[in-house]
Amino acid sequence: MTILAVETSCDETSVAIVREGRILANIVSSQIQLHAEYGGVVPELATREHLRNWLPVSRAALREARVDIPELDAVAATQGPGLPNALMIGFKAGQGLAFALRKPFLGIQHHEAHLYSPWVSGDPLAADFSQFIPNVSLIVSGGHTMLVHVRAELDHRLLGSTLDDAAGECFDKVARLIGLPYPGGPELDRLAEQGNPRAFDFPRPLLKDPSDDFSFAGLKTSVRYFLQKNPALLSDRQRVRDLCASVQAAIVDVLVTKTTRAARRIGVNCITASGGVTRNRELRKELAAASEREGSVLRLADKNLCTDNAGMIGILAERKLLQHAQPTPVDADIEPSWRLS
Ligand code: KG4
Ligand code: ZN
Repeated sequence: MTILAVETSCDETSVAIVREGRILANIVSSQIQLHAEYGGVVPELATREHLRNWLPVSRAALREARVDIPELDAVAATQGPGLPNALMIGFKAGQGLAFALRKPFLGIQHHEAHLYSPWVSGDPLAADFSQFIPNVSLIVSGGHTMLVHVRAELDHRLLGSTLDDAAGECFDKVARLIGLPYPGGPELDRLAEQGNPRAFDFPRPLLKDPSDDFSFAGLKTSVRYFLQKNPALLSDRQRVRDLCASVQAAIVDVLVTKTTRAARRIGVNCITASGGVTRNRELRKELAAASEREGSVLRLADKNLCTDNAGMIGILAERKLLQHAQPTPVDADIEPSWRLS
């Protein structure tokens, strides 16, 4: 089966070609530079950019995969959640293509696709759906932070999610307070590498709370108050590195502790993680150390599959079609608030 998959839920226009569990092409056109001057994603600009990009990105994916349009057996696209007008571009484009080809179309839940992206690895990237179930999966990005229990393939249960800001949002907002360019997460990660994570003691929100929920808004606020009291710190390079390392340590501590605790409580010995923040070096390192202590298998998404991409949409769509999922009706609409359950 050969599938063309489209992802336009936020600020990445991505088209992938997937065949028999392999990602043959996964083209991502990122809009980071476009939104940088506004310090965040501007929905209307993102929509126009998707409209401009989706066709050239599709052509590039088909060319790279050496696939012609008539060879496609199905089309998939992100149906939700995401920015409504941004979603609309990829979803309607995918639906239109499937309709014209008289092939099945599948609307995909974006977080469900993140859930399975750690299962794809190697060169060429191929999915292995057998080894990593059951597991507890951390999905951690700029828009979402959630823990999910994957009981079997395509069978999962949401354990907890953030009550306010996502972890990536916390990275980005703290980076902005420090004056780092958008998106601040990767830059904060880089500065933290030479900082002392024990220099400043920031709160670990909900760490001791028995639920699997997260909360990061208070941590960002405590950094703001801290900087109001210590304005001179920002002109001392080493202290800025220490601040980055200390904030990062607080975020990572909460993510790692709550993930391993959930896995232990449920009794699974596999942990997976995906989403943009999974690119964070400290998070990768600490998840590896904690998994080793727990005797668990750790499976992290490949760095280029952590952030939003259509490869993960295509991989999940193929698994669903193989398991006889009903195609999404041709007149179905986007679901901007579609939550994982
Ligand atoms: O998954 P993603 O591309 O988009 C969504 O939010 O859905 O994730 C982007 C987020 C941003 O908040 C960005 O700052 C964060 O992931 N991020 C990082 C790192 N790389 C990306 N945060 C911390 N350390 C990183 N190395
Ligand atoms: Zn995402």
